[in-house]
Amino acid sequence: MVTYVDAAVAPLRNTGDIRLYNADDFEGMRRACQLTARCLDELVERVRPGVSTDEIDRFVFEFGMDHGALPATLYYRGYTKSSCTSINHVVCHGIPNDKPLKDGDIVNIDVTLILDGWHGDSSRMYGVGDVKRAAERLIDVTYESLLRGIAAIRPGATTGDIGEAIQKYVESERCSVVRDFCGHGVGRLFHDAPNILHYGRRGEGVVLKPGMIFTVEPMVNLGRPQVKVLADGWTAVTRDRSLSAQFEHAVGVTDNGCEIFTLSPAGLDKPPVGLR
Ligand code: MF3
Ligand code: CO
Ligand code: CO
Repeated sequence: MVTYVDAAVAPLRNTGDIRLYNADDFEGMRRACQLTARCLDELVERVRPGVSTDEIDRFVFEFGMDHGALPATLYYRGYTKSSCTSINHVVCHGIPNDKPLKDGDIVNIDVTLILDGWHGDSSRMYGVGDVKRAAERLIDVTYESLLRGIAAIRPGATTGDIGEAIQKYVESERCSVVRDFCGHGVGRLFHDAPNILHYGRRGEGVVLKPGMIFTVEPMVNLGRPQVKVLADGWTAVTRDRSLSAQFEHAVGVTDNGCEIFTLSPAGLDKPPVGLR
């Protein structure tokens, strides 16, 4: 049984209860998520061959500082960077380092800026120089799967409806959905109930209600779905070393559907690949 609680009065820790947020809260999320979206927009021209993920990470930190926001990943459970940068066969939680990006790489950059206590969590794929057609197709399939998952969101639908929409589409494109990581409730907490699985069956899971806020962030592999975490304790990679892609939006359930808080003000939700 799930319990839904008024976010204004519930304790600020993950108790497993599902918070329902009010209109002021939605405005707080809108502002935090739009700041993150602008940061991800700024990265489009900065992601180039020769640039290191540490340089990208430093930009994210400075962008946060310049706008009164703190990166949520900084010192989160021992993580020491302002972003996650997941290249090629890295599924998620890649740690920025001083290695230069190479022509043909694809990289997910995941940023969460905390503004006035609200967590703006979003990620996009970026192509580095000339990207191969197979990689570009994976990116297209992954973004489309995110949109199909989001299209299933309305009051009365379930988290399983989101998962089924994503899984059916991804598998129809001969790709696979990663099972080991999921979307999550977000708001005043970085990671909260409920879990949003990117696979599953219609009608399963938790019933969606107006006021819920969560992320949808499918990870899609060109090969098999299995992942392993490297010895650094963070970096998740595909076991078969096939390419992996991910996009993430934060959304709020409204009376008749949902609002995507992290939409790019510049229309760069899926940055162009292979045009530079
Ligand atoms: N931003 C990631 C997410 O979408 C979480 C990163 S946690 C970190 O939930 F510690 F790896 F940075
Ligand atoms: Co997230
Ligand atoms: Co994220």
